[in-house]
Amino acid sequence: MSRDKYMEWEGDCWVRRGPRLVGSASIRERLDPFPRGLIPYTAKLSELRGPAVVDQALTQVLYGYLRFTEQLELKSINRVGQWIALGELPIEIPRHLRSRAFLLVRDEAHHATVSDDVAGQIERLTGYPPLVAGEPGFLADIAAVSNRSPGIHEADLETAFATISETLISGSLALIPKDESVLPLVRDYAEAHKVDEARHQAFFSEFFEWWWPRLPSRTRGELGPVLPDLCLAFLRPDIGFHQQVLEAVGLSPRQARDWVLESFPEASLGASVRRPLQVTLRVFQRAGVLDDSATADAFAARGLIDGSRDR
Ligand SMILES: [Fe+2]
Ligand SMILES: [Fe+2]
Repeated sequence: MSRDKYMEWEGDCWVRRGPRLVGSASIRERLDPFPRGLIPYTAKLSELRGPAVVDQALTQVLYGYLRFTEQLELKSINRVGQWIALGELPIEIPRHLRSRAFLLVRDEAHHATVSDDVAGQIERLTGYPPLVAGEPGFLADIAAVSNRSPGIHEADLETAFATISETLISGSLALIPKDESVLPLVRDYAEAHKVDEARHQAFFSEFFEWWWPRLPSRTRGELGPVLPDLCLAFLRPDIGFHQQVLEAVGLSPRQARDWVLESFPEASLGASVRRPLQVTLRVFQRAGVLDDSATADAFAARGLIDGSRDR
């Protein structure tokens, strides 16, 4: 990223020039809080329980999405962003990347702030309080990968996860602004976030191509084969969360579990996440990640790339 790009980032980011959604007054319109097309169980819910219950469920899904964003920004991305900015990773990071990491941290803190504010506005608009508590599933998934791989340093695992989540253009960020049946507040929020995230994608692509080849080969050998699990930690639907949403709107625990398993079949996971992963996989390819056969085999075993015989 050139000097000009840096100044563009500094001047054009959401916190400086984007829509000021914090504290904005919205009116309750007959619109969805979240795109129903992204939540497979809404059709069945509408048919069996009616539109008011769908509205309640989509409001809970939106709260979960906003909470996921807050947790991702502050607990994952900004943790790594601060290490990069302050030069605290074991690999020396060039000055221009460290400077941009300060802008990254500022952006993400803003995204978390607006997410919290939008949740408050939606609660005032709808009168529905958030009913699903607890941490989003990706944090437990990362902890599980860490527990299975005690030889991998936490900073390396977190840095790899941050790169994965920041190089994936999230399907939801692209789809929400386009869905005219969704509340303008939510669409404007997702659009402004998407614009910042395009810059972050470029930043993390450049960062990873610097960082990965400079890691000790033993670290790369251990970290490479768990990268597909970190990709899935970000992309996998949060089954526990959706089950709680359905219970919150009146389904029994058994029904909620059955509906969620039917909505998000494990078998379709590999295929459905391949498309959003393409940018991340290209970054990995350029950095030489997939040259390691154990790593390439691990990606193929999860269905994220073709197996060696098909490649
Ligand atoms: Fe963000
Ligand atoms: Fe970001």
